[in-house]
Amino acid sequence: MTHSLTFPILRRLSDGRFHSGQALAKHFKVTRSTIWNALQEAETLGVSIFSVRGRGYRLPAPVHLLDRASVITALGEQQSAFNIEIHDQLESTNTYLMEKAAQNIAGATCIAALLQTRGRGRRGRLWQSGVGNSLTFSLLWRFQSGAAALSGLSLAVGVALIRTLHGLGIASAQLKWPNDVLIGHQKLAGILIELQGDMDGPSAAVIGIGINLRMPQELRNCIDQPVIDLESATQQDVNPNELLALLLQSLSHVLHDFEHHGFANLRAEWTQYHAYQNKPVRLLLPNGSELHGVVNGVAPDGILLVNTDSGEQRFSAGEISLRGLI
Ligand code: BTN
Repeated sequence: MTHSLTFPILRRLSDGRFHSGQALAKHFKVTRSTIWNALQEAETLGVSIFSVRGRGYRLPAPVHLLDRASVITALGEQQSAFNIEIHDQLESTNTYLMEKAAQNIAGATCIAALLQTRGRGRRGRLWQSGVGNSLTFSLLWRFQSGAAALSGLSLAVGVALIRTLHGLGIASAQLKWPNDVLIGHQKLAGILIELQGDMDGPSAAVIGIGINLRMPQELRNCIDQPVIDLESATQQDVNPNELLALLLQSLSHVLHDFEHHGFANLRAEWTQYHAYQNKPVRLLLPNGSELHGVVNGVAPDGILLVNTDSGEQRFSAGEISLRGLI
């Protein structure tokens, strides 16, 4: 377990300025060696800290850390539409919210974490990220309809992400079925949706989203696919609080639309963003085999349609992975 002062001290250091050990010790009412110990832990979490004799500690550069008040301010008029919880550290925001959802927590609850110690991806993979490397959060959405009516939900969520990114001027952001967000065929964001409830209603979806903000090379080396981050895509400093607020607004809009009309209403827009529309692809199937074909599009329920040698085939997201051939 991380030292209880590690994150509070990091918040004080987030301005990128020097803070003396003495001033930090005084502020937190602890000894200087406690401060030192807490910062040693920060290093083990992958945060670099400069320590200069006589001046104190500072981060290599100022960073925006997630904080609840800033997200709420950025939500403006929509702040009452969401319950926001920001945690310093969680195993996984999805795991946490799935447990809370079972205990009847309200819909539109958003759980974000500065650090996930066991972030989960699709198909049993890990979502790897250190403090400040990615925006990681989950949103609980309750539906009157049953889980059976939620096919296409993960694609709808992709539309919400792309709208936000395009709104920020990142026009090259695209989707890869079912719901990865790519820039130039490199992965920027992933979505993991987990469902609760009956097939015929009511049901709840925990919508987990991870977006790369600033990925150090050591972390990229641990990931088995090409990745990109928002900072290199925009050449700008990204404020995760503002980004989270924009994403929640867009998600709320898309999810209301989805509740009333399903994915069918968003399908044309989704297709426009698909990086592999009409492109040759290979599909990695759960039994380890591969299938080649050309993407025809998606059906109104989000199923992928692929033209193969044996005619059009239909694939549901589950365990399938799509790879481009060009
Ligand atoms: C994928 O691309 O495989 C999906 C990645 C989803 C990662 C996010 S990060 C926040 C939420 N909590 C998790 O444990 N996973 C999702």
